[in-house]
Amino acid sequence: MRVLSGIQPTARFHWGNYFGAIRQYIDLQTEDEAYYFIADLHALTTVRDADKLRQNTFDAAVDLLALGLNPEHAVMFVQSHVPEVTQLCWLLMTGTPMGLLERCTAFKDKKAHGLTADAGLFTYPVLMAADILLYDADVVPVGKDQVQHIEVCRDLAGSFNHEFGETFVLPKAKILESTAKVPGTDGEKMSKSYNNTLEVFEPLGQLKKKIMRITTDSRPMEDAKEPESDHLFQLYSLMADDSQREEMAAMYRRGGFGYGEVKKALLGVATDYFAEARERREALVAKPEQVQDILADGASRARKKAGEVLARAETACGLRG
Ligand code: ADP
Ligand code: TRP
Repeated sequence: MRVLSGIQPTARFHWGNYFGAIRQYIDLQTEDEAYYFIADLHALTTVRDADKLRQNTFDAAVDLLALGLNPEHAVMFVQSHVPEVTQLCWLLMTGTPMGLLERCTAFKDKKAHGLTADAGLFTYPVLMAADILLYDADVVPVGKDQVQHIEVCRDLAGSFNHEFGETFVLPKAKILESTAKVPGTDGEKMSKSYNNTLEVFEPLGQLKKKIMRITTDSRPMEDAKEPESDHLFQLYSLMADDSQREEMAAMYRRGGFGYGEVKKALLGVATDYFAEARERREALVAKPEQVQDILADGASRARKKAGEVLARAETACGLRG
């Protein structure tokens, strides 16, 4: 079985990205084969600052490695380092009905939020289909918001196979379980678009400030509170061990505590939880060439597979003899 997924380098990773996606990628990296890439071509649809895109892409690589993505298990690479993907994208584009793309909710949402709809944004799902088909991926772990794009991919692969003969493997989406949403500092879903994120590698002083500013209700100190419905408790639970979690839940149910105490405890578990990853990150940042080497090696492994599949597709549709 081959697992593949991509993540856009549009901002530094936050707790929602880690617990909702990255942690599962890491768990899945020991499957038969795993391919994970940093989707810089997709990010180009929104990040229009060259230095920022370069820096974000490097940071994404360092963060993923620090968090435990292991190049010995997974092929890790940058999307644009495999130019075959844009070649395959064109082949697929020629068979893509406009209506299929017009129905994509991610595109409709972005347009509704005032993003100018250029052809890159519109054809985003075709490039995503190329990402997946290029490696004969069987399983694609994604959040719920991306499931429609996997359906588009299956549609495009199915029509190509129908027109030109069996060429592509039809992938399945694996909806990430804990896409149980991670709440942000305002209690809403954590998202870079809502300005309510806690970043995985936030400097500790800044993290403390942000945690202390997490919104809370005006319950009097002595009142009890149902832990599960509280976003501070939900965040704490992500990183606390079982006994810490039970103790905190008991304190909520007893009452007689202030949210300040919970925030301090949250900062404590968050600091411990990511401490090793922070150390690994520092070591990697000190050796950027090592990170570049890992990415170069990943790209060359990815290109080997990509070249085979592209040749198969080009032969099928008559571009090659
Ligand atoms: P954002 O909402 O910050 O723009 P992305 O859409 O880039 O995040 O998300 C990348 C991955 O992280 C997706 O798989 C998504 O499902 C997951 N993710 C993002 N935010 C959360 C969250 N608050 N809770 C759980 N998963 C999340
Ligand atoms: N569109 C995905 C997201 O925003 C990122 C992505 C690009 C991707 N290509 C992919 C995910 C291929 C899975 C497979 O989250």
